[in-house]
Amino acid sequence: MDENTEPSTQPGIAELVRTQLQGVIDPELGASIVELGMVGDISVTNDGIATVTVALTTAACPLRGQIEEDVRRSAGSVDGVAGVEVVMGQLDPEAKAQLMDTARKIAQTAAPATSLPSSARVLGISSGKGGVGKSSVTANLAVALARQGQHVGILDADIWGFSIPRLLGLDGALEAKGGKIIPRRLEIEDGHLEVVSMGFLAEEDQAVMWRGLILSRAVQQFIEDVAWGELDVLLIDLPPGTGDVQMALARLLPRTELVLVTTPQLAVQKVAARAGDMGRRGNLRLAGVIENMSSFTCAHGETHAFFGVGGGERLAESLGVELLGHIPIDASIAAGGDAGQPVALDDGSVAAAFAELALRLVAQQVPSSTMAGCSARMLELLDAAVEHAP
Ligand SMILES: Nc1ncnc2c1ncn2[C@@H]1O[C@H](COP(=O)(O)OP(=O)(O)OP(=O)(O)O)[C@@H](O)[C@H]1O
Ligand SMILES: [Mg+2]
Repeated sequence: MDENTEPSTQPGIAELVRTQLQGVIDPELGASIVELGMVGDISVTNDGIATVTVALTTAACPLRGQIEEDVRRSAGSVDGVAGVEVVMGQLDPEAKAQLMDTARKIAQTAAPATSLPSSARVLGISSGKGGVGKSSVTANLAVALARQGQHVGILDADIWGFSIPRLLGLDGALEAKGGKIIPRRLEIEDGHLEVVSMGFLAEEDQAVMWRGLILSRAVQQFIEDVAWGELDVLLIDLPPGTGDVQMALARLLPRTELVLVTTPQLAVQKVAARAGDMGRRGNLRLAGVIENMSSFTCAHGETHAFFGVGGGERLAESLGVELLGHIPIDASIAAGGDAGQPVALDDGSVAAAFAELALRLVAQQVPSSTMAGCSARMLELLDAAVEHAP
């Protein structure tokens, strides 16, 4: 029999294929599919046909075609391989949880350099839905933290729809020094804010139409090229929608914890599902829930719950995280935002609500960033919440 058609295998070449596949990166998780444990059996027949088994996190993975193509090309480039067959499968839940942990650890060691002190807590202010008050909460929470003596960074990651400069009454351009971007600084009582935003680089009414990749580049630049100085906490005002920026953060600053802002009205299962998606895609820890636009108390002392009651509690409970506080509906929040004078600078009841929120966050016991398994636990809770939601 001709030795080239003999149906035995060539383990040496199979090993070379595995080594070569180290270079195939899962675009979403930013790590090698071999390191992530997605590559199963590899065999190479004596006539050079390589069969590679690849297990995806989900069979319906939108990147399936791309990964398959990358594997085909990469394996096909190995000497002695004449053709490649890719068998696509799906990871079982245990292997998937393991992959999440691995992805998180890889992201932590591969995260790019940043001048952000390792002791600074990083909180991404996010929501499943737009317009719930993320930016207003970010600006006022930052002010409240600064009033308590904290050194607070604000990274406005809403590249298209930046609103932080206006909310804080800041304008002008960012300066650079020694190759680093110098954030705009605002002294507030014993603390201060250090702020970066596209708003300091672009006109407010000029739509910054960037695609996902460039979007994450802009965020990357804000993380890597800004001289943040000594910060206690960095608040990141996230854009609503697709999750590109959350994905970028998971890769660039894997210690980011998400704070979910919701209103009392939102159907819990919808928000939980979106939050679940965010967590699943980004693999980030959840620090808690803030209910914004809670009941409104009029000048006569009567309370009106325009948007219903209990959405924040329900969401926090279903996610198994802390409800960090309620911020009432109050015209002073919108007016303060328009005037560039955050209401948290006052001494009224709304400022007190933000001060309480700030205290609650500072008092939180944060698990060490190297703790394994918490993201997997979070995902289980989310799955359970979505499944059992009414
Ligand atoms: N508690 C509140 N009481 C009254 N008005 C509020 C409150 N919170 C936010 N607003 C107003 O609601 C609008 C939306 O708020 P904001 O821009 O902070 O939301 P966002 O979640 O950042 O929106 P986007 O998703 O577009 O980034 C603004 O006009 C703001 O002034
Ligand atoms: Mg916003």
